[in-house]
Amino acid sequence: ASSYLYLFQEFWCPGIAIEGVESFQKYFEAKDSDVVVASFPKTGTTWLIALTFAIVNRKHFSAQNHPLLTSNPHTLVSCLEFKIFCHEIHDPVLHLSTMLEPRLFSTHTPFTALPKSLIQSNAKIIYICRNPFDTFVSAWTYFNKIRSMSLPALELEEAFEMYCDGIVSFGPWWSHMLGYWKESMARPNKVLFLKYEDLKENVNFYVKNIAEFLGCPFTAEEESDGEIESIIELCSFEKMKELEVNISGKLDKFIDNKLFFRKGEIGDWVNYFSPSMINKLSRIIEEKLSGSGLSFNMCS
Ligand code: A3P
Repeated sequence: ASSYLYLFQEFWCPGIAIEGVESFQKYFEAKDSDVVVASFPKTGTTWLIALTFAIVNRKHFSAQNHPLLTSNPHTLVSCLEFKIFCHEIHDPVLHLSTMLEPRLFSTHTPFTALPKSLIQSNAKIIYICRNPFDTFVSAWTYFNKIRSMSLPALELEEAFEMYCDGIVSFGPWWSHMLGYWKESMARPNKVLFLKYEDLKENVNFYVKNIAEFLGCPFTAEEESDGEIESIIELCSFEKMKELEVNISGKLDKFIDNKLFFRKGEIGDWVNYFSPSMINKLSRIIEEKLSGSGLSFNMCS
């Protein structure tokens, strides 16, 4: 049953995460120094976690002994609903109180379901989203590999219909992105809203942008020392995909680290979408996002 999705507080929550989301809402006390990477699944979470971790901790590690060389990014930043509040940690509240600051977290929980303490504090949220075409393909390939342990794989057409109805982990995807999008408009110092496509096009700009947003801008000396370039290189798809930990390591008993590194491109959806699928998803995007000011670059 943990592989199924349940409509819970107006979003489709994986059964395995329901208890975690509830405990997160009930027990999490945000600190003003907290940093939370938030995302809809398969939109570039792994990359953003790696970049944020590398930016925040840049004084502590050199390029040669960096934890990102030997750890999957998801193990360096605790996911609130899946890890901290989901049985993995015996006493989450005690664990949270002993974490070094700034505490770095990740979450897939929709903005509207975040605990009040996180919304009201000065904790920072960095959100990443991605064009819904590539997100679908990435999610379909990923979840089929995970489902295969307990449930039969979904055909492309069936998964697509569910995706169009919003029935996908933490979906509907349009509500997820619009929740964070609206908050980033209302409180730009609280939520930094990023797009996977923008990062692919100009990661240098966004690495600086993230550092400024978090209140730790790069100094002129760091810039001239190539600090930004070395973070970009450390977190690049090509580099991370080839690390031993991401080739043969496992995140948990169900998930191989390599599943987080597939193609890492903009526009791979053209290899999967029929003309009628293109029409249907384009119409949904237009309908759901119209008037929001949010739009996407679909091709590289
Ligand atoms: P594809 O399936 O299109 O290749 P998430 O991290 O949210 O699960 O998203 C996974 C997607 O991000 C996958 O997309 C994956 O290949 C891509 N990705 C992972 N690490 C990346 C990186 N360092 N740079 C760019 N893309 C990355």
